[in-house]
Parts: sequence; C-alpha cells; structure tokens
Amino acid sequence: MNEFKKLPVLLDGDPGHDDAIAWMLAKASPLLDIRGITSVAGNQTIEKTTYNARRVAALLGIDAPIAMGRPGPLLSDPITAGNIHGQTGLDGPRLPEPAGELSPLGAVELMAKVLRESEEPVTIVSTGPQTNVAALLLAHPELKEKIARISLMGGGIATGNWTPAAEFNILVDPEAAQTVFQCGRPVIMAGLDVTLKALIFPEDFERIRSVGNQVAHVVAEWLEFFYIFHREIGYAGAPLHDPCAVAALIAPQLFESQELNVQVETAGEYCRGATICDNRGYGESIPNARCLTGVDREGFVDLLVEAVRRYDGWEAAV
Ligand code: BDR
Ligand code: CA
Repeated sequence: MNEFKKLPVLLDGDPGHDDAIAWMLAKASPLLDIRGITSVAGNQTIEKTTYNARRVAALLGIDAPIAMGRPGPLLSDPITAGNIHGQTGLDGPRLPEPAGELSPLGAVELMAKVLRESEEPVTIVSTGPQTNVAALLLAHPELKEKIARISLMGGGIATGNWTPAAEFNILVDPEAAQTVFQCGRPVIMAGLDVTLKALIFPEDFERIRSVGNQVAHVVAEWLEFFYIFHREIGYAGAPLHDPCAVAALIAPQLFESQELNVQVETAGEYCRGATICDNRGYGESIPNARCLTGVDREGFVDLLVEAVRRYDGWEAAV
C-alpha cells in the first residue's frame, strides 16, 4: 500500500483575523500535519497574540503544543495593529477558552524541539513578523537543514501597506526578515502583490456562513469584521493576507510566482522594512525567494469553503 505522508508544519503567527483563517486552512488540510504553534508579537502584544493562538487552537481542535514568543522584535520597539484587529487582537465573535496548558518552552525552543525530533524537514509557516524564525536560525544554526522551507506572509515587490514602502510584518522586525530571506533555505513570499488580489467580498463570506457549522460561522464573522475595516479605508474587499502562505503549500496551482532575489531595507528614513525584490529580469542577483504574484481568486474562495466544510461534526465548547 502507498503510505501517504503529510507535510509536517510549524505555525508561527500573531492572530489576528487572517492568521486565524490561515490556521483554519492548515488544520482542515489532509496534506498538513501541525507539529506546533508559536506566537509572535505583532498585531497585538505577545500576551494577547498568545491567548488568541490558544483560543483559535481550541476552536479548531488543534492539539499541537503552543509556545509563546518573545515580547518584541529582535532590535526595535514593538508596533501593534489594534486599529485593524481590535484591542484584543482578534475582536469579533466569542471564542472558546484555551483547551490545554501553554508549553513550558519558549517559541524558539519549541520550534527547535520539533525540528530536532522530526524525521523529515519541517515547513515553517510564518504569518506575523519573522522574529521567532530569525531567533531560531540565530540560536540553532545546526537545525537549519531541518527546515524544509519557510512560507511567509510579508513584504511586496511593488508596494507597502503600513508605510508606502513597507508591509506590516516586515516593518515590525526588518532585521528578522532580512535574516530569514538570507538564510539559504527555500522561502515562499506571500507578499502584498498576491494578497491584495486574494480579496473576499460579502457574497464569499455569506457562502462560508451558509456551510452552517461552528467554524464556518466564526470564520464568516471574522471575514465580515475584516471586510468592514478594509472597506472603510478604501479597499474593494478584505485582503486575505495570511491564508495565502498556507494555500501556497496545499494548492500551489492557484498561484503565479517569480523566483527573485529579496533584500530587506533595515535602515533608511522612508524605506525601513521595504522588501527590495530584483525583478528587473537582467543583472546578476541570485534568487532567494519564490514571490507569489497572482492568485486564482475564485479557486482560493472555493478552497476556503471546502476547508470550513471539513469541520462538519466538530464543535468546540464555547
Ligand atoms: C499582515 O499584517 C497583519 O495585520 C496581518 O495579520 C498580516 O499578517 C498584512 O500586512
Ligand atoms: Ca498576521
């Protein structure tokens, strides 16, 4: 018999509405095996993102160990995004309380343990600032080869969102992002070039709501919350940034991409946190990332709908 092997993954993020939806996709996928969750300071303080990570895991029935990241970026002061995700970092529908204990390990040590104990290399999905991933690379260079790839949401070839030049996750910790892009392991960059095309409209979240189970209801509420905020600031729909980093692993056929050299601006008066992606098509820079540039939006929505359907029959106690 052909033994089907799931891809082992570590989920590192700062939930966050779109992080939570990314994790929903990951847990629903028969292709992925979640080996651990680590929280990072970003959308909110580390205390809040850790609490949210634990509540989201309880909602989705993820029983992997969960560990807390450091209080802030490697070198700079924290920046939070309460204006987008609310004061809790995950405002909106009521969620279950955490189901298990927080790991006694810190985020970096949990990641290291998972890598060390895994027979095959592990994929890291990073949907917040890259602080934990960079700290892992710096503290445990001997484990680098155990990282299969890093699929991250961050950056942009063409634009920023938090500043005209920089996307939020990269801007929060540019030194960490630069460490990750230069680490020598395969990197998938789900940047704004693709995530601003992964737009969700009311008919999409109503389709998700109509699936009818508990997770479908919560995801629809998160999407509606995200949609209202983005409409108010002039977007046509809600850009589903973080789910692209998971979808690129489980449905790569939905995406267009380019292999590019990416450098992160860590200085600069106006451009700190910008990702400088060499897409000139000539010159000698060596690609270090696969940058996603386009998505089949309809296929992406279908993927979300199929994922919430997989929670039929599961209900967390709220
Ligand atoms: C990124 O910033 C956060 O607010 C989102 O969760 C996403 O990871 C988009 O710029
Ligand atoms: Ca995020």
